[in-house]
Amino acid sequence: MTLEEIINYRRSVRHYKKQPIDEQKVKHCIELATLAPNSSNLQLWEFYHVINPEILMKIATACLNQESATTAQQIVVFVTRQDLYRKRAKKMMELETQNVLKNSPTLKQEKRVKSWKMYYGKIMPFLYVRFFGLFGIFRKIIVNIIGLFRPIVYQVSENDMSVVVHKTCALAAQTFMLAMANENYDTCPMEGFDSRKVKAILKLPYGAEINMIISCGIRDEQGVWGDRMRIPFDEVYKKV
Ligand SMILES: Cc1cc2nc3c(=O)[nH]c(=O)nc-3n(C[C@H](O)[C@H](O)[C@H](O)COP(=O)(O)O)c2cc1C
Repeated sequence: MTLEEIINYRRSVRHYKKQPIDEQKVKHCIELATLAPNSSNLQLWEFYHVINPEILMKIATACLNQESATTAQQIVVFVTRQDLYRKRAKKMMELETQNVLKNSPTLKQEKRVKSWKMYYGKIMPFLYVRFFGLFGIFRKIIVNIIGLFRPIVYQVSENDMSVVVHKTCALAAQTFMLAMANENYDTCPMEGFDSRKVKAILKLPYGAEINMIISCGIRDEQGVWGDRMRIPFDEVYKKV
């Protein structure tokens, strides 16, 4: 399929055939999902590939027994891990330093390494740290002052940063669904779930959040509910 055909093929499937799907192919689609663009390349995500029938059943119950979950052959839970920001920032600092040493002209290396240290060592921890909303308020005050003198990003509250982490994870989820369509496999993204139950089933730590749960399988004849409907394009397309 061409990319356009893949995009057209992907539908949210609510009922799957009782036909197994290849675990390795799904795993490969998750690997492709990690290539999605993501904020500051911090990759604050994790992917739980559920194939164990007992756990599948528990997750389906936590997905409010939606048919898409109860008939799924496998399920992938997309999880955000904002709490890992220090660890991931440290890793990115190492990788960017190696990248500079490998690819930058010798004269520019020192300055570039220093700026990555600043970015991942100071700015990222400052933006991602959380403490009951208080750090977010502090950040807001600072950016509002700086904003008087130059353009700046204002979305730095603790809620804003949570949105950043979730939108990044959603891009991985979409990449995964397209990769699955490329394998002629079907999916359905779900936000109708009991997050506490899912966290308990997967034994996730306090700082983890569920972004989306994606059921997987092969569509049944009645698996797609009706035609694809979209708001007329003219209503959403604004030429500037
Ligand atoms: C964030 C998100 C959450 C969704 N949650 C559910 C859900 O809980 N259950 C469900 O059946 N579909 C869910 N959907 C699927 C949408 O209903 C579906 O994408 C939309 O109707 C458009 O249909 P299409 O995906 O076939 O193009 C969700 C989609 C997204 C993006």
